[in-house]
Order: sequence, then C-alpha cells, then structure tokens
Amino acid sequence: MAFPGIETVYLNGRFVSPDEASVSAFDRGFLFGDGIYEVVPVYAGRPLRWPQHLARLQRNLEILEIPNPWSTEDFDALAAGLIDGRTHDLYLYIQVTRGVAPRDHVFPENATPTLFAYAQALTPSPAEFYTAGVAAITLSDIRWQRCDLKTISLVGNVWLRQKAKENHAIEALLVRDGYVTEGSASNVFAVIDGVVLTPPTGPLLLPGITRDLVLELMDRDGVKHAERIFLEAEMLDADEVWITSSTKEILPVTRINDVPVGRGRPGPVYARVRGLYQQYKAHDR
Ligand code: PDD
Repeated sequence: MAFPGIETVYLNGRFVSPDEASVSAFDRGFLFGDGIYEVVPVYAGRPLRWPQHLARLQRNLEILEIPNPWSTEDFDALAAGLIDGRTHDLYLYIQVTRGVAPRDHVFPENATPTLFAYAQALTPSPAEFYTAGVAAITLSDIRWQRCDLKTISLVGNVWLRQKAKENHAIEALLVRDGYVTEGSASNVFAVIDGVVLTPPTGPLLLPGITRDLVLELMDRDGVKHAERIFLEAEMLDADEVWITSSTKEILPVTRINDVPVGRGRPGPVYARVRGLYQQYKAHDR
C-alpha cells in the first residue's frame, strides 16, 4: 500500500519504511483502542508548542497507567529523526499503546508499550476556508465522559465527523445537555456580545494546544475573552464561531445547520486573532 509523502516511520526504536512497520494483531491498540496519541504541527522544521504537546502526552500516559520509559530527549530525537531537516509544513503523529499481550481487559503486568510515529506534509486548508468560512452541523455529543484524554479510541469522533461530511459540513459541533463541548476533532470558540468564549477545560473536552495558544494570544493582545460554558442556542445566535486544532489552526465557521452565523462571513475578531496566530508562527520560526 502507498503512503503518500511518508518514506520513513518510527516504530519501537527503529526508523523503517511504512511497509516494514507492522505490529502484532494482539497489540492492545488494535484489540481495545488502548492507547493515546498526539498530533503536532511542524513549521520550518520546528514542532510548534512541543513542550506543551509532550506534557499532554505524558499526562495521558500517567492517567491511563501506560508505562512511559521515554525521556524528553528521546522524544526530541524521535521528532528530529522524522523531520529529517525538512522545512516545509509538516505534522508529527505520535501514538503509544499499552503493547502486546494475550487479550484480557485487565492491564497486562509486563507488556512493553508500542511507540509509533511519523511526519507527513501538512496540507493547508483551501483559501476559501479562510475567506468564506466553513460549514458545520450540531450533533449530540455521544462520546464518553473522559474526552480530556487524547485516546486512540476514536470511533465516536469518527462517526460524528462522518455525519458532518454526509451533511456537507467540515465539522460536527457537539452538544451535551444543551451546552457546546467541542468539535469532533477541534475546539470551539464563539464571539457573543463582544467577548470570545470557549468552554472551560474539564473531563468533557480535549485541552487543545491550539485552544490554549489562542487564549494566550488574546490575553497578550487585549482581546476580550472568557472560558465559560455556552448553550447551543447561544452559539447559533453568536456573531462569530471558530474551530481550532493543530492541523486546522483557526477556521471561521460561517454556517451551522445550513443557517448563516452572524453575517455569514468571517468576522473582524476572527481576522484579528488569525493575524496574531500567523505572527506567532512566524516569530516561532
Ligand atoms: N485533533 N478536540 C478534539 C476531539 C480533537 O481531536 C482535537 C485535535 C482538538 C484540538 O486539539 P489540538 O489543538 O491540540 O490539536 C480538540 C487532532 C488534530 C487529530 O485528531 O487529528
């Protein structure tokens, strides 16, 4: 099978071709989705917010009691080996599973965790995503109660995202008990009464690294914002809605459930914050 743009991957201590990289069918990632992952954008050869991504990865391993024999230096070497001097935009994918063991729900005593990673070109969003915005739909958040963990058990997210696609939308914005949590693969912001709101972190949404950076940039530049929950109805009535992720950066959502958001165009606060994000990226280079 061809893996476009990926010549080398990392698996358990070795850099090999994608075709050579194979894991046991008894890997708990395969049998149970028992593992965690990270997606890190890489600009000009530098992983953006690398310490924050590593800290999230380490926290996930610790909470799920997956052994973590790797130091920060090991992950640095892994990233450098995969980036391999390339300077175009990339994203780095890193996955750790609990390893290979006879199938049993209980954690195995002596399994060695599986570490898999690769870097691939980061395809920029089409220009019209920024100029015209994107469409989203709202769906009930049918996932579990620990969405703060970045686990590879993504069937809920995958299913929701597929429903968005079938409705000609690029993202599903998820609603639990009337309140917006996040997107199927992104965090959500809404501009309501001149304040940029995003739901506070907690067990029901991923503490996105991009979300955190956007909050920091708004803080520094004096953009009025708050971490506070908001209802689906408030979001549908908002002046602007955005989604953020490591691969999408910040995208304006200009239609939800086929109804325009605000004036149906990317708004002024979006333009300002996207500018701050681009400046940050350029500075980080
Ligand atoms: N997903 N919420 C969910 C459910 C996500 O899957 C993601 C990212 C985010 C944004 O987090 P960050 O800013 O750290 O990328 C929020 C990645 C990109 C993915 O699964 O490919």
